[in-house]
Amino acid sequence: MTLPVQQGNSDATRIAMEQHSQRLVTAFIVSGMLFMLLPGTFLGVWNLIGISQQRTLNSLSPAWLQAHGQAQIFGWIGSFILGIGFYSLTKMQSTLRFPVRAGWTSWALWTLGIALRWIGGVTGWQWKILLPLSGLLELVAFLFFFHSVRRHRPEQPAQRAETWMVVVMAATTAFLVALIVNVIALAHLALYGTSPALPHVLDQQLVVLFVWGILVPTIWGFNARWLPVFAGFRKPNGNRLLLAYGCSLAGIAAVFAQWLPIAAVAFLFASLLAVDALHVWEPAVQPAKLLHVHASFPIFIRITYIWLVVSCVLTGAAVLYDRAGGIWGASRHALTVGFVAGMVFVIGQRILPAFCGMRVLWSTRLMLWSLLLLHVGCALRVALEPLAYEGYWNFAWKLLPFSAFVELTAVILFALNIAGTLLRPPAHLR
Ligand code: HEM
Repeated sequence: MTLPVQQGNSDATRIAMEQHSQRLVTAFIVSGMLFMLLPGTFLGVWNLIGISQQRTLNSLSPAWLQAHGQAQIFGWIGSFILGIGFYSLTKMQSTLRFPVRAGWTSWALWTLGIALRWIGGVTGWQWKILLPLSGLLELVAFLFFFHSVRRHRPEQPAQRAETWMVVVMAATTAFLVALIVNVIALAHLALYGTSPALPHVLDQQLVVLFVWGILVPTIWGFNARWLPVFAGFRKPNGNRLLLAYGCSLAGIAAVFAQWLPIAAVAFLFASLLAVDALHVWEPAVQPAKLLHVHASFPIFIRITYIWLVVSCVLTGAAVLYDRAGGIWGASRHALTVGFVAGMVFVIGQRILPAFCGMRVLWSTRLMLWSLLLLHVGCALRVALEPLAYEGYWNFAWKLLPFSAFVELTAVILFALNIAGTLLRPPAHLR
């Protein structure tokens, strides 16, 4: 329900809209963190312990593996994207009110859809109904969001949309496409499948679509918008960022055509172009804004891009040498944990306190430790997984669970810091 604001935007209306959007973004962040912790990370750790005990990836139920991936990609990061997306509607110069009803309907359907997907995948209970239903709920939830965003476009759009907006809008469209493909795949599985797991090749193609089609460009788009302000980086080179985005689309297409060597090259080019376009490894041109965050903020931004490039190099190595899934796994982990989770940890602790009610981050020291442990755990996992899975060094099997516990600790610290922040009163009320 979006009503036109009468007689201009009164202060009271604006404050009410801001409060509605703050409550909604908080709901998305809280449910996203719950998915991150329990269905996502705990299941991931459990899976890794199982694989390490049996010393083979094949010992793991594919349905559990996919449930973990879904909970992390859609349950955690997807919820964060939707919450921040709804919140940013209040910042658009539109004459429409904040879409309160659409926002809460979207949150309820999205959260229910993700929960059903996880329950159906992990327990196998009524999965032929739960899986397609979950896909449908996620799609309808997203359509509420998509419709709200389209309605809130400024009435007189600027001459030419800025590059960051183009990239974020493209990623949003890819999100819609991915959810349509997802629901079709789940319906097909329910009709013809024998277990709640998608066939391996299709599942891997979908993971690439979700990660490279949605998560990576959304991060690039928001990095282009925020890093010059938060980290003092040089303004991004728009054309180069669009070229990076084009290369990543080519990579996704190549994965679906099963031209993996071409995909590996395209993703590597995409990531190097993005590093160059966003100037992340160049000296900053102005001081970073470090109030209420840890002073290491710009360093951790730069580290995430190392993971992006490492992941692409490992994809190339996997195409050439992988036999048991270890190099593919390391490449995916470098991307999802090193780059995506690393970025959400560092940017999230910068922006979420303000978005969720003008708060101040609870602890900058917890921020540092969550980031340090995440990257140490990720480095251990990425180094050990090829050694163990590919049979190069048997002792690596014993060390692998340790990497999962380090990452689990990092995730708990991140969640604690955000929860502690949300439980404190807003800065202006203290
Ligand atoms: C933080 C601790 C995490 C642990 C311990 C963990 C563990 C695992 C394990 C054991 C696998 C099975 C394949 C393999 O052995 O490589 C896996 C797959 C996967 N993980 Fe994670 N993971 C974690 C975090 C994440 C995060 C943050 C994301 C995404 C944002 C993610 C996304 C995925 C995806 C997409 C797959 C593949 C699922 C599929 O093939 O359908 N993981 N993870």
